[in-house]
Amino acid sequence: MRTPIIAGNWKMNKTADEAVTLVRDLLKLDDINGVEKVLCPPFISLTSVKALIDNTRIKLGAQNMYYEEKGAYTGEIAPTMLKELCEYVILGHSERRGYFGETDEIVNKKIHAALKYGLKIMICVGEVLEERESGKTEAVITRQVNGALVDVDLTDDIVIAYEPIWAIGTGKAASGEIANETCGLIRSTVAQLYDSARAGAIRIQYGGSVNSANIAEFIAQPDIDGALVGGASLKADDFIGIVEQTARIKNT
Ligand code: PGA
Repeated sequence: MRTPIIAGNWKMNKTADEAVTLVRDLLKLDDINGVEKVLCPPFISLTSVKALIDNTRIKLGAQNMYYEEKGAYTGEIAPTMLKELCEYVILGHSERRGYFGETDEIVNKKIHAALKYGLKIMICVGEVLEERESGKTEAVITRQVNGALVDVDLTDDIVIAYEPIWAIGTGKAASGEIANETCGLIRSTVAQLYDSARAGAIRIQYGGSVNSANIAEFIAQPDIDGALVGGASLKADDFIGIVEQTARIKNT
């Protein structure tokens, strides 16, 4: 059985003070059973959010990380620094790839570094609209999955998020069927790279305009084990609604 996982990717939103207010409103997430819950605020709020959730089952994640352990890399954050604060890190988000030039090779280096220091990872993959419309989704997704996982010993510490770029922040979520089909493709890519046991065990999230009104459509799908939520994770009621419905649907 794969434990469902819902993560909130706050992106570059919420000041440190605002983060504290939002997390206070999110503390009731701790009452929901059967779903792993992860909050990924900006780096500067990791410490204060950690203090608020320390005695709960809510987990903390970062949105990015550099692959070097320390040194002269102005503005970067090392895996050793994250390890003191959080359990998860999001790597290879399409905004990192698109705006900050992250290649499959860089994502792979970051994954190795994160695993070396005991961090759990949500790896993001996804195609742009033009790639989907021209029938290239399979090629793009398999390239990203294979590229991310070069020489990686796949364990339960790795989650893959399927995030079609055309659905991120657009309000145009994929249909449950399309999302499930592509998550299934990711699972079979993992089976080819490793084996069917690991493909059956890996958790795959859908991300892209998920909210409390559409989560049920995704979470009811057999190959979708959770969601990576952007915009709706900034609203406590919406995010709690997403987690509650996930618990209800996956645990019945
Ligand atoms: P969104 O973002 O929910 O705002 O579409 C999802 C993501 O980029 O992780």
